[in-house]
Order: sequence, then structure tokens, then C-alpha cells
Amino acid sequence: MTERSSLRTRAVAGEPVDPTYRAIGTPVVQATSFVVEPGEVGFSAADMQEEQPYFYGRWGSPTVRVLEQRLADLDDGEDAVCFASGMAAASGLLLHLLRAGDHAIVSDVCYAGVAELCAGALRRLGVEITFADLSDLEEVRGALRPGTRLVYAETPVNPTLRLADVEALADLAHRAGAALAVDSTIATPFGLRPLALGADYVLHSLTKYACGHGDALGGVVVGRRAAMAALRQDALVHLGAAMSPSSASLILRGLVTLPLRMRAHEEGARAVAEFLERHPRVRRVLYPGLASHPQAELARRQLQNASGLLAFVADGGDALARRLAERLRLILYAVSLGKHRSLVYFLPTEDLLRTSFPLQGDKAARFRAVAGEGLFRLSVGLEAPEEIVADLEQALR
Ligand SMILES: Cc1ncc(COP(=O)(O)O)c(C=O)c1O
Repeated sequence: MTERSSLRTRAVAGEPVDPTYRAIGTPVVQATSFVVEPGEVGFSAADMQEEQPYFYGRWGSPTVRVLEQRLADLDDGEDAVCFASGMAAASGLLLHLLRAGDHAIVSDVCYAGVAELCAGALRRLGVEITFADLSDLEEVRGALRPGTRLVYAETPVNPTLRLADVEALADLAHRAGAALAVDSTIATPFGLRPLALGADYVLHSLTKYACGHGDALGGVVVGRRAAMAALRQDALVHLGAAMSPSSASLILRGLVTLPLRMRAHEEGARAVAEFLERHPRVRRVLYPGLASHPQAELARRQLQNASGLLAFVADGGDALARRLAERLRLILYAVSLGKHRSLVYFLPTEDLLRTSFPLQGDKAARFRAVAGEGLFRLSVGLEAPEEIVADLEQALR
């Protein structure tokens, strides 16, 4: 592997041959404690050194460290910190960066867990949050103020597939003295390059495409070396949501095929999106790979892969959800995304507005106009595209 190897080659050959056994593949080191010399490592996280021996599993461990280095490499970041889940990565970063009186701008439609954390715990701790439409640069410009420390974006957004222009947001945030964090879970490193476009932090829920097989939870933040050292000390060691070595091993296995899987997910999602767009029961299809996506030009400019997640609005709402759950044979009715299996899940609009999305007035009305009774979120898996389409066709008939 050379410095200039393609991402596809780096995904396969970037995992080092294990130095202990010369194993092709990273051993799972399940130990939680490591033998050290007296005085070699400080007992408190305050004394943590960047290059120190392994000490205690919550601070870092060999299998997880290989995964961190692989993820930093794939996103062209200097370093990375892994967490037990995507939410642990997001909450760790937000709690590390923001304190009482700070202001943050957060996407007004983003993964529900992040939206609810910001509206709940962060506000209770005295952090001022403005929820904004990050696809509207004028709205972002208007929301920035002297105390703004962070702009937190997700692109494409779960579940509306709205996009944010990372380069433009980085420019706006930096001019105002704020940092930009981008949750790039749905795009993966093969679809979007947030750090190259100017973001300071990139996050992924590794539970999704990175793992890809639906058998491990994980999350990561990638960024500059000093920033990652501070995040590890403050958020990983003290909040404690460390990734297990066995999860790291499953995610390392997933990364090898991630570029190939993303191509297959995109191929399947495009076929399904085009089928749904022609279906008489379907009112709207939201997918960044379609020419009809409201930000198709931005998708062409910033996404190298449109991913496998789409949402559609169809007549029938709840009743249709029950019917799909009963009649689909290949696609499973289940939450989550980015797995080998195709999954569909109905998100009722009024539930989203009550629990997750802080939209009011005109914004709520616009959301209702787009989402109707609710969004069917469909994560297109790795099955043959024509068979996924046939399954939907028989179930929608
Ligand atoms: C975009 C996005 N970010 C973060 C998360 C949270 O990740 P996890 O479920 O691994 O905690 C999710 C989960 O669905 C997600 O879709």
C-alpha cells in the first residue's frame, strides 16, 4: 500500500499485519487491564500521554486502536476516538466541546437521538441551542452569534435525506469562530469527505454501513490529533462509553468490504427509488441519487456515492405500514440502516414532530407538506435489486 493508494485499496490493505502473531487480521484482545512499570502511567486521565502504553480498557485497547487508525485513515483525519455507539460518539463530542452559556447551531432535522439530547440534557446544562435548517445558508448566517462554538450538521439526514453543503457551512462557521462537526454516517467515507471540505470533526455511527452486518454497535469521531487526545481524556475516559474489542473486531471486518457494499447499496437504492417514483400509490420519494431530489446539484457536487437509504411517502400511512409488515417477504420491518438486509420502518409525522424534530409554525407546516402522514424509511440492503423491487411491488399491490 502506498500513500496514494485508492480508498478501495486502503479499505482492504490498510489493516496492518498483526505484529505479535503475523496474523492477517487483527486479534481480539479482550483484556481490560495491561501490565505497566511502576510510575510509567499516571492513574488519572489528567496525566494521560499521547503515546503511552495500554493501561486500562476504558482508556484504549489494542483492537479498538487498530480500528481508530483505520477510520482516521479512511476519512483522511489525523486521529480518531471510538465509542460504544454512534450516540456515545455524538454525546461525547457535544459534552466535551460545549459548556453553560455556549451556543450551538444544530440541524432542525437530524437523527432523533441527537435532536432529543440537544433539546433535553444539553439545554438543561445551560447550553444554548438553535435548531436551524442547515440547507439554508441564510438561516445559518442569521443564527451565528459571538458565543457560537459549534455548528452540528448531518448529511444526508436520517430520515429526510436532506443535504448540507459542508464546504459552505465550514466557511460560515469558521468566519464566526465556530467549529463544524458533520455526522456522515449515511454517506460513509466513500460518499463524502467532510474533513477535506473543511469540517473540523466527522462522526459516524459505525453500527450502520461501517459494520454493515448488523452485529455490533459503535461510533467514532475523527479529527485533528490534539483535539482527539482531548476528546479521549475528557469524553471517553470520564463518560466511559468505551467500545468493546469484540465490536471493534466485527467493525474491522466490515470496513474491508465497505467500498464494495456501498456500490451495491447505491445500485439497489437507485433501482428501488426509480421504481417507487413511478408507483401510483407513492406520493414522493426522497433519495439523493434521484434527479428529483431538491438538492440534486449539491448531491452531484459533494457525494461520491448516494448511499442506500431512501424515504417515501405513500397513501395509507399507518395502515400501509401494517400491511407492509405483514406482506413483505424479503424486506424486514425493523429500525436501523446500513445492514446487509433491507429494512423498512414507518415514522409517523405527528410522532416525529412531538418527540424529535423541534419544528414549529411554517417549518412544521412545510414538514407536514413533504412528509404527509409519515415517512417510510427504507434501507436498501445487498439483495438483488430486482428482487427487492418485486417484493415491494407485491406488497404494495
Ligand atoms: C445519522 C445517525 N447518527 C447517529 C446515530 C446513532 O447511532 P447508534 O445507533 O450507533 O447510537 C444514528 C442511528 O440511527 C444515525 O442514523
